[in-house]
Amino acid sequence: MTSTTTIAAVPERVDPALIPQRKVHTGATMPAVGLGTFGSDHVTPAQVAEAVKGAAAVGYRHFDCASVYGNESAVGGSLEAIVQGGIKREELWVTSKLWNDKHGEDDVIASCKQSLADLRLKYLDLYLVHWPFPNFHAPECDVSSRSPDAKPYIHESYMKTWRKMEELVDLGLVRHIGTSNMTIPKLKMVLRDARIKPAVNEMELHPHFQQPELFRFVVESGIQPVGYCPLGSPGRPERDRTPEDTAPTEDPVILEIARRHGVHPAVVCIKWAVQRGQTPIPFSVNPRNYTANLQAAAGDPLTNEEMQQIARLDRNCRLIKGQVFLWKDGQTWEALWDVNGEITPP
Ligand SMILES: NC(=O)c1ccc[n+]([C@@H]2O[C@H](COP(=O)([O-])OP(=O)(O)OC[C@H]3O[C@@H](n4cnc5c(N)ncnc54)[C@H](OP(=O)(O)O)[C@@H]3O)[C@@H](O)[C@H]2O)c1
Repeated sequence: MTSTTTIAAVPERVDPALIPQRKVHTGATMPAVGLGTFGSDHVTPAQVAEAVKGAAAVGYRHFDCASVYGNESAVGGSLEAIVQGGIKREELWVTSKLWNDKHGEDDVIASCKQSLADLRLKYLDLYLVHWPFPNFHAPECDVSSRSPDAKPYIHESYMKTWRKMEELVDLGLVRHIGTSNMTIPKLKMVLRDARIKPAVNEMELHPHFQQPELFRFVVESGIQPVGYCPLGSPGRPERDRTPEDTAPTEDPVILEIARRHGVHPAVVCIKWAVQRGQTPIPFSVNPRNYTANLQAAAGDPLTNEEMQQIARLDRNCRLIKGQVFLWKDGQTWEALWDVNGEITPP
């Protein structure tokens, strides 16, 4: 951003009632901005837990967690403190996710119970299948790392996992279940065969990666799109970067809109996301930043013209390519995303 940009003062707290709500298929409502909690390898569980507490104090009610983030027990301490501090459990929307090495029929319920114990909750609002590939790879491994046991998407296997996800709803341990990192052909099969349909599909969404077809399909199927890396994940580790990646927060059009509104370019990305209809889950451990990201949804909307300008910025630039899930030698990451419109054959 240029040195002439004026940054507006960030108010200390946002009234949660001012944050738009998304209605999921059961009629329940989910706040249209959540706090991401993936500290990767540069932010400690204690820092993330502190941010969760601070975020609730400034008005966040939605938290995006996952067992693989390795911090659910620290985050759980904060959630417990938040509820003890007087915010009702029903006001919160807490998501967790089933990791890839726990797709087995005997593992799903046990994994969810572990997340519930760590998060100190009796139920989750949303439990996602984190990736549609049942592959183990070590945390923090390089993108060139491959598991010798890597498997492609096999619908019958995914549905066995999904049946256990449905059982979690029946047991009252989770209120909603959902998918993540899916494609249209995979989702069509799940929608055909599910007894309980996904409430949410979590997917990468930012101004340089708008996924218009998948976004439209998800919305038209009555599924809420939740957008990860809404700022283009500027803090992701080197190992997750490729030379062709671009940064939405450095896009001249975003910079100009930010200058006009007197906000950081990150805030423009959040405004765009909320106004487009997805639910961004920006990560931050910086109180000024996470407050600004929530405030982004509470007023001073982008104009129609600004929304159209940003719609034209799409570069189809996927940042989280998922290379570690490739199951055959010689494949490129596009195989994971069914770019030809059908599930890539095994
Ligand atoms: N389902 C999945 O497979 C999946 C995959 C990836 C991510 N996720 C979820 O999505 C969340 C968000 O993704 P992400 O963390 O990769 O990327 P992100 O939210 O796009 O970017 C986070 C980075 O932006 C900075 N930032 C945040 N707000 C800012 C502001 N207002 N001004 C300037 N800088 C700001 C943060 O630094 P500071 O801390 O210094 O503010 C942090 O480095 C994750 O935490 C996780 O919960 C899900």
